[in-house]
Amino acid sequence: MAIRLGDAAPNFTAQTTEGELDFHQWLGDGWGVLFSHPADYTPVCTTELGAVAKIKSEFAKRNVKVLAVSVDGLESHHGWVKDINETQSCSMNFPIIADPDRKVATAYDMIHPNADTTATVRSVFVIGPDKKIKLTLTYPASTGRNFLELLRVIDSLQLTAKFKVATPADWKDGEDCIITPAVKDDDAQKMFPKGIRRVKPYLRYTPQPNR
Ligand code: BEZ
Repeated sequence: MAIRLGDAAPNFTAQTTEGELDFHQWLGDGWGVLFSHPADYTPVCTTELGAVAKIKSEFAKRNVKVLAVSVDGLESHHGWVKDINETQSCSMNFPIIADPDRKVATAYDMIHPNADTTATVRSVFVIGPDKKIKLTLTYPASTGRNFLELLRVIDSLQLTAKFKVATPADWKDGEDCIITPAVKDDDAQKMFPKGIRRVKPYLRYTPQPNR
């Protein structure tokens, strides 16, 4: 079944390149990113895993753990990790799930039969500390993902989870936010002491409240 925003993130146990894990336990109280790869020893996936390894500290800074899944076995993953390290000049530093029986891929609806009957698409799930799905992305196998965009979205998700704001188009951490329409003007004055720029009754900006 499709996984939608607000759904509970299915739990699973799995073998990974860093040992067996129980997903929810492994996440603990923090945030998580689960992202799928069509297959081992494929070029785009190789670059993606290297890209994430290089910016893992950026995820950690945001209290986010990253976990990859590919529908191949553990032995294949270990061989592939050597190639990733060699070709991407990185050191793999997060687990890749071995999912040869497609347990995780099925639970997260990562196989889209009209795109490919066996390989997963490039799915991304961001999971909050409440183990609910906060974001989903689906890319085709032929398009590598932009992981800096993922960090940007996580900044927005974490901000909007705490404050009654939304983030405008192309927003980046540190830029002005939009006050959510449900907040009345009188309340907004108290809630956002850094100031309010009222462009329209429904379009009110405030400096990022947690900066
Ligand atoms: C890749 O990761 O390079 C890839 C995987 C499946 C289809 C096309 C590209």
